[in-house]
Amino acid sequence: MIFVHGGAGDLVPGEDPRPHVSGCLSAARAGAAVLSAGGSALDAVIAAVVALEDDPLFNAGTGSVLNLDGDVECDASVMTGELQAGAVGAVRGVKNPIRLARLVMEKTRHVLLVADGALRFAREQGVALVDPASMVTDRARSRWASPGTVGAVARDRRGHLAAATSTGGTSRKLPGRLGDTPLIGCGTYTHAGAGAASATGIGEAIIKSTLTRWAVDRLAGGQDPMETARAAVEQLPRAGGTGGIILVDAAGRPGFAFNTQRMSRAYIDPQGVENAGFD
Ligand code: GLY
Repeated sequence: MIFVHGGAGDLVPGEDPRPHVSGCLSAARAGAAVLSAGGSALDAVIAAVVALEDDPLFNAGTGSVLNLDGDVECDASVMTGELQAGAVGAVRGVKNPIRLARLVMEKTRHVLLVADGALRFAREQGVALVDPASMVTDRARSRWASPGTVGAVARDRRGHLAAATSTGGTSRKLPGRLGDTPLIGCGTYTHAGAGAASATGIGEAIIKSTLTRWAVDRLAGGQDPMETARAAVEQLPRAGGTGGIILVDAAGRPGFAFNTQRMSRAYIDPQGVENAGFD
């Protein structure tokens, strides 16, 4: 199964949320195609998140919101159930930050690379770099609200789990600000035998709640994924924020919850049955 989110947030007056749902469904189909061909949960979540990073509707990769200087600075992370993890923070001109996060996981002994060091590593690895200005869209220039982060969780045929999350962060953030997305246990967490989780929302509150680790720990205790997701988002207001979470447990059962007005999302089960929505 694969479960994708396109971010939690409040409805912008006059904005139709359905294209976000369609974008999530396309991304989930990209991930589901990997799984149905026998591919890994890791490959599936990367395929889904790359699709969302390349869709300018979403706040990740191209289309990311702008910081106070008017620049796009992206964060991303990925984790497998075997506790392999990689992340990048505050990277500029990296077309697909989630691919770079995967390379940090697979090619270094580190978990998180940021800013210029991450870019140097990207060049060494031959990762696609673009003019940072090409990732700034007219839509992002005119937008003051922060549409949500994107993410995906998956369970493959062999029962392996993975989660991936990517974002441009929050609109008008201070340059150099990192949110929850590149922090393992905050924006992304996975543990074999328990589950995988990806969060969206106000990063500072998600960090203070260590939200995805909190949720996956409860899945390890056998708690129902929907109940776990609901209990997880209840952590956010006391930490000063709102947001949402998607989960899959070790048996492949999905869970999600949000305390914003909407969270675009799409889920495809192992039989290929699709389920998508925003409210
Ligand atoms: N959840 C995304 C961020 O706050 O950066």
